[in-house]
Amino acid sequence: MRVVSVVGARPQFVKLAPIAEAFARAGVDHKIIHTGQHYDPLLSDVFFSELSIPAPDVHLGVGSGTHGVQTGAILAALDTVLPSLSPDWVLVYGDTNSTLAAAVAAAKLHLPLAHLEAGLRSFNRILPEEHNRVLTDHAADLLLAPTDDAARHLANEGLRDRTVVVGDVMTDILLKVRDSVLDRTDFPTTAFGLEENEPYSIATIHRGENTDHSDRLEAILGALARVNHKVILLAHPRLKAWATQFNLPLTQGNLIGHDPLSYADLVCAVVNAQSVITDSGGLQKEAFLLRVPCTTVRAETEWEETLRLGWNVLVEPGDPIVEAVGRPRPSPTTATPYGDGHAADRVATVLANRRLN
Ligand code: UD1
Repeated sequence: MRVVSVVGARPQFVKLAPIAEAFARAGVDHKIIHTGQHYDPLLSDVFFSELSIPAPDVHLGVGSGTHGVQTGAILAALDTVLPSLSPDWVLVYGDTNSTLAAAVAAAKLHLPLAHLEAGLRSFNRILPEEHNRVLTDHAADLLLAPTDDAARHLANEGLRDRTVVVGDVMTDILLKVRDSVLDRTDFPTTAFGLEENEPYSIATIHRGENTDHSDRLEAILGALARVNHKVILLAHPRLKAWATQFNLPLTQGNLIGHDPLSYADLVCAVVNAQSVITDSGGLQKEAFLLRVPCTTVRAETEWEETLRLGWNVLVEPGDPIVEAVGRPRPSPTTATPYGDGHAADRVATVLANRRLN
């Protein structure tokens, strides 16, 4: 069985790592197409080298652009590349423009399409990720859902027959990497210039709805600067660009701007942190799995389980961020809504069993 994975953005490389390993164990003939949506070494190459992901077989090199330009460039390029690889399955990941473009390309070429991390919903139809995941789910032949909530969303949209709950592949890689960084307790002190045992939080803000509006971004950065301990802000290039444009410093008060981290460094930084403050989807879930309280600067989340279990709260920019970071630590839980760390092996089995041609 030949599976062609199409990836392009940082969170997709993290999901690809356990899949590539599981496919190698199962003897799957695996080809990787990198669209080039993310091209900065800190957003791309570092993940391939650190997580031992095989180098892409094809690199489309599309780079940045408006949603239409970026999605269209990937779609056009895949028209010749995908058939030349003769896949039994095209596997797409998550909710980025690379996901949607590859899904549309496979559907139009009549190639069997599987969607990993299917069924997540924010129910906010303004967000690009919501367009990408809804359209991809409805184009796909096989929906690999991470949670029971996700499977329920798919059933509500008439997609029950195409759905299999496999668990969350990010849990697979996170648990493995967490175990490998447990002895690196001096990393935060050294990397962020902190005093020994000084408390700190980790922040990431990269969504257009937060970065691209000066009032909103100013309120977020100002609140992070007022938290009562140091906040290390791992700055995505998009955040850096808008902050420069609006003349807003990423280092002010207790806030310290820092380059993005590799995956192992991020896990090490989070597992030793007081809290996480973010608008990322994946990091909310990673914080929960590492049992670090999370404050999410969004109106909704795709990972509702983290709210229900009390480890995540949604806040507006400004003082609510400071108040939420200062809340008491949630009650301990042993819940495992994101699976047992073996989702990628299940993906390999399901793809083999449900092969269409
Ligand atoms: C994309 C995904 C988002 C995901 C995020 C992870 C879409 C619609 N969004 O958002 O769901 O959470 O990846 O990081 O697909 N840039 C660089 N270097 C790069 C890549 C981007 O400088 O390597 C800058 C460019 O100015 C670019 C901007 O970041 O215009 C946004 O990049 P883009 O790939 O469009 O979306 P992300 O914000 O990264």
